[in-house]
Amino acid sequence: MQTSTIVNGKRNNMSPAEKSPEVGVVIDSSSHAARPGEWLVDLINRVGLQLPQVCYHPQLGPVQTCDTCLVEIDGQLVRACATAVSEGMSVSTVSPKAHAARQEAFDRILSNHMLYCTVCDNNNGNCTVHNTTKLLAIEHQQIPFQTKPYEVDNTNPFYRYDPDQCVLCGRCVEACQNVEVNETLSINWDDPHPRVLWDGGSTIGESSCVSCGHCVTVCPCNALMEKSMLGHAGFLTGISKRALNSMIDVVKGVEPETGYGSILRVSEIESAMRESRIRRTKTVCTYCGVGCSFNIWTKDRHILKVEPSDGPANGISTCVKGKFGWDYVNAPDRLTKPLIREGDEFREASWDEALDLVVRRFTEIKAQHGPDSLAFISSSKCTNEESYLMQKLARAVVGTNNIDNCSRYCQAPATMGLFRTVGYGGDSGSIHDIENAGLVLIVGSNTAESHPVLATRVKRAHKLHGQKLIVADLREHEMARRADVFLHPKPGTDLVWLSAITRYLLENGLAHDDFLRQWVNGLEEYKKRLEPFTMEFASQTCGLPVETLEKVAHMIAEASGVCVLWAMGVTQHSQGSDTSTAISNLLLVTGNYMRTGTGAYPLRGHNNVQGASDSGAMPNNLPGYQSVDNPEVRARFEAAWKVNLPSTKGLDNHEMVDAIHQGKLKSLYLIGEEMAVVDSNANHVSAAFSKLDFFVVQDIFFSATCRFADVVLPASPSLEKDGTFTSTERRIQRLYQVFEPLPGSRPDWKITQDIANRLGANWNYGHPSKIMSEMASVTPMVAGVNYERLEGYQSLQWPVAADGSDQPLLYTKEFNFPDGKARLFPLSWSGPVEKPNAQFDLHLNNGRLLEHFHEGNMTYRVKGIHEKTPDTFVEISPELARERGVQSGTWLLLISRYGQVRVRALVTDRVSGRELYMPMNSTESPVNRLTSSHTDPATHTPAYKETSVHMEILPEIGESPLPRANPRFGHPTPQSGVEVERKWKRSDYRLPGSQFVQIRQK
Ligand code: SF4
Ligand code: SF4
Ligand code: SF4
Ligand code: FES
Repeated sequence: MQTSTIVNGKRNNMSPAEKSPEVGVVIDSSSHAARPGEWLVDLINRVGLQLPQVCYHPQLGPVQTCDTCLVEIDGQLVRACATAVSEGMSVSTVSPKAHAARQEAFDRILSNHMLYCTVCDNNNGNCTVHNTTKLLAIEHQQIPFQTKPYEVDNTNPFYRYDPDQCVLCGRCVEACQNVEVNETLSINWDDPHPRVLWDGGSTIGESSCVSCGHCVTVCPCNALMEKSMLGHAGFLTGISKRALNSMIDVVKGVEPETGYGSILRVSEIESAMRESRIRRTKTVCTYCGVGCSFNIWTKDRHILKVEPSDGPANGISTCVKGKFGWDYVNAPDRLTKPLIREGDEFREASWDEALDLVVRRFTEIKAQHGPDSLAFISSSKCTNEESYLMQKLARAVVGTNNIDNCSRYCQAPATMGLFRTVGYGGDSGSIHDIENAGLVLIVGSNTAESHPVLATRVKRAHKLHGQKLIVADLREHEMARRADVFLHPKPGTDLVWLSAITRYLLENGLAHDDFLRQWVNGLEEYKKRLEPFTMEFASQTCGLPVETLEKVAHMIAEASGVCVLWAMGVTQHSQGSDTSTAISNLLLVTGNYMRTGTGAYPLRGHNNVQGASDSGAMPNNLPGYQSVDNPEVRARFEAAWKVNLPSTKGLDNHEMVDAIHQGKLKSLYLIGEEMAVVDSNANHVSAAFSKLDFFVVQDIFFSATCRFADVVLPASPSLEKDGTFTSTERRIQRLYQVFEPLPGSRPDWKITQDIANRLGANWNYGHPSKIMSEMASVTPMVAGVNYERLEGYQSLQWPVAADGSDQPLLYTKEFNFPDGKARLFPLSWSGPVEKPNAQFDLHLNNGRLLEHFHEGNMTYRVKGIHEKTPDTFVEISPELARERGVQSGTWLLLISRYGQVRVRALVTDRVSGRELYMPMNSTESPVNRLTSSHTDPATHTPAYKETSVHMEILPEIGESPLPRANPRFGHPTPQSGVEVERKWKRSDYRLPGSQFVQIRQK
């Protein structure tokens, strides 16, 4: 398998064998050491020589469309971007022949691109076409600019394509085809007038484009531009089209006399002026747990664009939410005043009045009912520092361990499965390690929609590098369609087929005996408990053919390394912890831990759901998973915090709701969670909230949960604060404040500190870095974390030792148990708690959608996302739709044992039979009015995925809930990449300069 990968945001084109030793290469008479097999252009760039390279981007690799990188080797011209260095190679970048060839190549580029830099929004010092014109000192074009016979395409809400400015470099195509792997873009090389095509010729708006923005990010000029840039970036670019055209005419008029040099100088003065008002600030995405990071370009409070390039998890990649999903920050309905309930109304209050009330009521309730009558829920959208302070407020100031976060709703079972078997509740490696796997097994994760950028790495490895993909899911989503094997087990039966495969491997000599001997305890007991899990039992229970299960077993046994990715399709079951454990057991039996390309990857949902737990927002653990009932641990925290700490485990989210109903819990302080909608059995949860004596909700909008509050405190979103997030890779990254908090709102850490101090604490954190220093001082797992080590794009993957060394691969020397050995954990199967019956005859599944995050409080406020995906829906299979006379747009009433929702149908073959699917993105018709209070006993994570409903067909038929412009209706055009060979075959193509010979083309 070839291992060309994107590592830490940079492309690594070399196989392990090629990584050493170095070879000597002479460039323009100077000797340089190179890595064998690296692209010559990378070497040239590394040693600081200036060589044009319009189509080359290190994270895309050679595209070979522009010919502007031609150099001379042994008298022949070669493309530096597609030439691998070798020992003794002698290269001239300065020979007249190479120079002339590059000039000719770039002249062709300019025939496709009008230079009007001074009035161009892309004139920001980083335009490749502008900079190459300057580098080559172009004064006059030999080939005149020619327009193309196409209109500008403005049909996507976020970006536009201007064919006349398109230099046909194909970077966008390569990014879409082979990095994002959405396979929407191509170039019609066979057409007399080539251009970039969406779905082979659709408008962008009606294509399969998912608006991830990869193409826009890599475009070397202004052909693809974020609409938020247009008319905003330059001093003169907001002028009318007519005025703009007149200015372009003036520029073109003077060019024959002055040449481009003086024109470019004027544009560079304008570009330099932009520096004074455009800020570029690094942040980390606030949506999912992949942990994409990027620079946000802003002008005052206007977001010009999101520029991903150096993020260790994502490089140039984003999904629609990270690239374009930020309108909510400036939404007109942001909360900017504290609110206090008066009867059924809220009135605005000053911060002093609101905080005084909070503190007075907390104090009264504690005095009357004791500290355990109060509870605290931190937000997995908040920073690590904020979760740390929230749990410190609960424990050290109020004196209760009643503190939790929303990992209870999704991730706790995965963490439990890993704690049981390997000792740490985190992903075993990095996204890079997943790319290196010979086989990826995805169970219960719609990865392409829930963790889009992580999914791109799997799609790429599968498409280009021979990685095998097995997907087990109820829905035939994108990853399932791409899979080599798609398993559709009966709902809630994953534990059975996973265990049966493990048993089969052990029984047929396909287990990794050496690994088991050296690294794993408990094999004999485990084997005994595996006895019921025969292939036949699994086949019958899961509805999967024995042959398919055997095929999967052999694929796992034969793979060079296996990574298992899983998410809420596993964890949100009544046996979520056990199924997560079964996954880890399988990995142990097959020796798939302790090296790259192997391991367990529970995919964390929220941006900081990993960090919220790491920081101690858990009822049983202080920061770093240090147990509250361990006297030594408590003593350390008591010494540091100078208080006595409670020693018994507190209530988790689920128990809090029950305790409110029982009258034991009187007060709740909730940060940034839409709990009335996202917790299972929402009606039951809402009823609990109305029983609270005192409820404080801190959020950026007046959420559905705020309706139950007594005090609402206006918080600031991630772009308005400093801090750190920890991604699914256990990667801790800094976010820097982009905007001042919207007047009236405050960062959560400041609010929590204020409340603590009014309650008598003497906290004095001037900046989140101080909070992190304190956390590191009491938490061995992050002992070496500080803000200096996380400067800019630097990151650390916990555990981080005091000297700052971290562990991208979690288990290299041992597992996290006293004897260093992993443990096989015996399991039995009990089956789902709720199955369809005669009354509730349909199974209802639920989950995320690419465009919206969770309930959609942020993403519905993004105009373009709202336009493309305006509402929730229920997916219904074509066969069930036929049987019941339902079509897309039919209004349905779904009724479960717990509640009902009214929702429109979307008929799709992504689901089959009597299985329905509802995305969770709605506050009006939330799926959680239908879900139950059953939980996984080990973690109390609700069994969201075990829901049965009855479906009533309502008389109204509306529009399809998804408009035609939704990318799900598009028709992708997969191809191997930009397919430059088709360009080379054109009758009007010849290589610039003299005869061409390719050297060591990879
Ligand atoms: S999916 Fe759309 S936005 Fe993403 S790279 Fe492809 S064309 Fe561009
Ligand atoms: S639109 Fe695509 S092909 Fe055209 S210049 Fe931009 S990246 Fe190159
Ligand atoms: S939502 Fe997730 S995948 Fe998308 S940009 Fe943000 S972190 Fe990356
Ligand atoms: S940079 Fe080498 S062909 Fe474009």
